[in-house]
Amino acid sequence: MERITITGGMPLQGEVCVSGSKNAALAIMAGAVLASEPVILHNLPRITDIYTMMAMLRRLGTVVEFIHPRSLLIDASRISYLEAPHNLVTRMRASFSVTGPLVARFGFARVPLPGGCDIGARPVDFHIKGLRLLGARVEMDGDFVTAEAGRLKGNTIYLDYPSAGATQHLMTAAVLAEGTTVIENAAEEPEVVDLAKFLIALGARIDGHGTRRITIEGVSRLRGGEYTIIPDRLEAGTYAIAAAMTRGSVRIVNANAEHMTPVLMKLQEAGVQVEAGETGVHVQLHSRPRAVNIKTMPHPGFPTDMQQPMTALLCVADGVSIVSETVYERRFRYVQELHRMGADIEQENRTAVVHGVERLYGATVQATDLRAGAALVIAGLGAEGDTTIEDVHHIDRGYEDLVAKLQSLGAQVVRLSDEPVASAVEEVPVCSV
Ligand code: UD1
Repeated sequence: MERITITGGMPLQGEVCVSGSKNAALAIMAGAVLASEPVILHNLPRITDIYTMMAMLRRLGTVVEFIHPRSLLIDASRISYLEAPHNLVTRMRASFSVTGPLVARFGFARVPLPGGCDIGARPVDFHIKGLRLLGARVEMDGDFVTAEAGRLKGNTIYLDYPSAGATQHLMTAAVLAEGTTVIENAAEEPEVVDLAKFLIALGARIDGHGTRRITIEGVSRLRGGEYTIIPDRLEAGTYAIAAAMTRGSVRIVNANAEHMTPVLMKLQEAGVQVEAGETGVHVQLHSRPRAVNIKTMPHPGFPTDMQQPMTALLCVADGVSIVSETVYERRFRYVQELHRMGADIEQENRTAVVHGVERLYGATVQATDLRAGAALVIAGLGAEGDTTIEDVHHIDRGYEDLVAKLQSLGAQVVRLSDEPVASAVEEVPVCSV
């Protein structure tokens, strides 16, 4: 069993380098299936979700290989198989997003319904509705979705909710469609914008990315090219919150402060000193944080992925914080784990009332999903005594070399595992851009 053990109470000090964005990279890797020539992606994070997407693309007949520790070659010129493997798609929701590119370029895709972190209902109805509006015949048979089309045709697609995944997926489907597609009520997340910029670099014609209306003029093919993925605002946010939790002082190198605005503003409201510069963000706190209220929303609202890490910090804040989760109803499963560490949280449905306590205490806890794992790491870093976090494979999905990065900041943390994770096996420089 893989676990992380943290001896809490050490203030984090120094510099940490943020990796490339997981969520942008996954969408961009799926989008690379559209290109008839090789694509090189820079600033890829070395995390298990990326390895899952690599395996998935290889199974389709795509050549996928690291040509540098963080640069990935994807050559989808000879895709030979249009059915995605069940074991990979059910492991990671983002792999469903190859459906649109496959049907757009080859007229056919058969993909299992997706999996991913168990944080509540994560349907794909917007994705399917959108593909149908673009002219695909989409059938569900058991666990599989089959989509077929001649050339897709542009249309106006209204999303009932600004879903990041559906916006990205439908954007990739529409770039090779005939005519104009308009996505109304589109997601504005930085990862959506990054995907649009990548597709534009390959010859796509997209406008309005970063707003609620995205317009795509279809083109007949996408060429190859090179693209550098944005820094991971969620990883950066995790280190910012960890710095505050330990009353430390950390410079997060490569972090894009603009992408982190909601988290940095809330940290400031809690009394954290934040200095944002061109090359990163400096976060420090030397006293107890103040209680603040959080309500998760689509970007530029407070990100649901940062709800759990932020709640860990609020456990030791001075006062009562109210945390409302409006995106995923099951993103509170970690609360019971925080209780084991002495947190005082009343949680009902989508709301948690966090009564700040003076300190948390080490315990053995379970990571129930990716960001829950990050929250428990943060709690452990601030707690008195030893915390052991089990099921760390969830954390490996989204945090590159978490233990090494925390150790470099002075944390007392070790990973106890029978088998090291792939990213730890190779010598990969921690900071590359
Ligand atoms: C992405 C991120 C995830 C983040 C989430 C919200 C990736 C790989 N993951 O997930 O880290 O927490 O955005 O910022 O990029 N919905 C539907 N029908 C659909 C699609 C979504 O009802 O067809 C709902 C979901 O249940 C959820 C909301 O829309 O309540 C937002 O989901 P969405 O933005 O699509 O999340 P993901 O793209 O899956």
